[in-house]
Amino acid sequence: MSKKILVTSALPYANGSIHLGHILEAVQTDIWVRFQKLKGNQCYFFCADDTHGTPIMIAAKKLSKSPEELIGEVQKEHYQDLTSFLVEYDNYYTTNSDENKFYSEQIYLRLKEKGHISSRNIEQSYCEHDKMFLPDRFIKGICPKCGAKDQYGDSCEVCGTSYSPKDLKDSYCSICGNTPVLKESKHLFFKLQDFESPLKEWLSTKDRLNEGAQKKLQEWFLSGLQEWDISRDGPYFGFAIPGEENKYFYVWLDAPIGYMASSKNFFKDEALFNEFWKDGKGEIVHFIGKDILYFHGLFWPAMLMGSDYQTPKQLNVHGFLTVNGEKMSKSRGTFINASTFVKYLDPEHFRFYMACRLGSGMEDVDISFEDFVSRVNSDLIGNLVNLVSRVSTSILDKLDRRLGPLSAEGKSLLQELLDKKTDIETAYEQRNYSKVMREITSLGDKVNKYVNDYAPWNLVKTDLEKAREVVTVSSNCAKVLFTYLAPVTPKISAEIQKLYQLKTLDFSNLESTLENITLAPYQMLTKRVEEKNIQVMIEETKDSFNQNKQTEAKVEVKEVTDTGYISIEDLSKVELRVGLIAEANHVEGADKLINVKVDLGEKGIKNVFAGIKAAYAPEDLLGKKVVVVANLKPRQMKFGLSEAMLLASGKDSTLSLFVPDRSANPGDLLK
Ligand code: MSP
Ligand code: ZN
Repeated sequence: MSKKILVTSALPYANGSIHLGHILEAVQTDIWVRFQKLKGNQCYFFCADDTHGTPIMIAAKKLSKSPEELIGEVQKEHYQDLTSFLVEYDNYYTTNSDENKFYSEQIYLRLKEKGHISSRNIEQSYCEHDKMFLPDRFIKGICPKCGAKDQYGDSCEVCGTSYSPKDLKDSYCSICGNTPVLKESKHLFFKLQDFESPLKEWLSTKDRLNEGAQKKLQEWFLSGLQEWDISRDGPYFGFAIPGEENKYFYVWLDAPIGYMASSKNFFKDEALFNEFWKDGKGEIVHFIGKDILYFHGLFWPAMLMGSDYQTPKQLNVHGFLTVNGEKMSKSRGTFINASTFVKYLDPEHFRFYMACRLGSGMEDVDISFEDFVSRVNSDLIGNLVNLVSRVSTSILDKLDRRLGPLSAEGKSLLQELLDKKTDIETAYEQRNYSKVMREITSLGDKVNKYVNDYAPWNLVKTDLEKAREVVTVSSNCAKVLFTYLAPVTPKISAEIQKLYQLKTLDFSNLESTLENITLAPYQMLTKRVEEKNIQVMIEETKDSFNQNKQTEAKVEVKEVTDTGYISIEDLSKVELRVGLIAEANHVEGADKLINVKVDLGEKGIKNVFAGIKAAYAPEDLLGKKVVVVANLKPRQMKFGLSEAMLLASGKDSTLSLFVPDRSANPGDLLK
């Protein structure tokens, strides 16, 4: 019986580009969806861009755009990137939609009505310059543990310690550089604890989650469920909370509701929507990465339970993509964007390779480009594609492109392939794609052995009918193998379908045979991977990282000049001290300079070449206390090393040195 299944991938955040990690998830989901469709199930694939939150708001401001304008552009780019990997959505929507607003409000109000929302005041960091509360990621400062500078408010990238932004030393707002203050404000909370027992039951249901994910969720139960802060104060790019003043839903509240909104936008019809979300006639299946399990395994089902909607039937949790055993890295050039990949390599090859690497568990998925080349060139092309390509041009032409009847030997070989159908289907169903690929390639090896044994390239010269027999067998086998492979390599499989003049290539016509028919002209199925392209792709990724670093640095400088302000943080970088001029001399050959030695007390004596000769004679200077920039980087000049700078106003003869008004000691720091 055909099943109704609603499938989703996690909604990519609009504040960044699609990279190979996102593609892993999209491809994992797409293979599963295509498999369900090829089996004849009524399956829908929904996704959207996740558009709300502070980072988007800030990013838009920096670009002088409205957030709506920015997310519109990003959505187009994301959709282009994802579909270039042959990911086929039934709808790719946005969380900033009317539908999403409607369901977010409705779910919230239902939860509130049933007493699952509480409120209380909390203290949070606030920037008085930007007039906003700062999310942890927008606060920077010195790590309380290891003393590393410029660390984020939630954790230190140097020593790995997690902390609260309040613990940071010398914290500053990452937008404007000012020191944040603590400010109180009312927040709304979702009482997750109210759902402890239904959630426990939900997560322990068989086949709901893979084992690793289930264990992880159980750990969270042991440490106790906490209520969840679902509100943010304005300014915030998101949906206003009904009945509240200047409060918005936290982005993670409306993000998963975006799954519903995307499906409603597609179905339009309430009854169809209800089949999945209300009546339980259809199943909801989410694909997500392990980093967002907490949201999908606890908050999301609880929100659905509390608002009388259906909970997901399955949560499929995958691990992270790593390259050569390490996290993707921008500086090593392995943090590869989808758009960079498709410039140099074939996305269908990446699907094939991902399938070889993906299992049903939550472990990280490691790839290496060396392995990528060898899997694609030997398993996909050398083994499977070759089965078709090497008999489909000149050999078939010599046979007028006609297949004959299947021989008894051919039938039994074909049967061996068909016998694997259940194993392959089960492996697909369980997302054990690497097993599917092992099965298919080992069947491919068998067929290749059969073809090699008969060598039809020789037979066409001596025995046309025997050659036709072998080509007929291998074509029938290829048809089965590329049907098995269709969820992974949809483009190649579609070419095969054309070659064999078939209406469809799905699991229901697996058993139909190709006999006594004429084949269409052969079209190239796919090309071998060019290894040199990989290096170019990696270099380009590195380059764009370095360029970004430079533009980021420029933006920071520009911000300072744009506003005309520097932050306290910037100012504190300048070390101003009282200096006593202990020596002053003319400089031979310099008509503007005087060489002075300034005593900075504990900081020692510094040598300075000062351009003050038009206004001061050396003897005027001796014994004077002046103001000195003490931490200026020493500068090698024609006449010697200058290690500090004297502060003065005016020019030429009107030049005036700054001197402390009252008694001050050499080395005193100006504050
Ligand atoms: N916007 C949220 C999801 C909201 S769903 C209601 C989000 N966005 S994301 O862009 O950061 O990530 C989207 C998906 O990509 C997540 O499932 C995440 O786990 C996955 N991946 C992001 N980087 C990844 C890798 N490096 N490897 C594998 N998957 C990764 O989270
Ligand atoms: Zn600020």
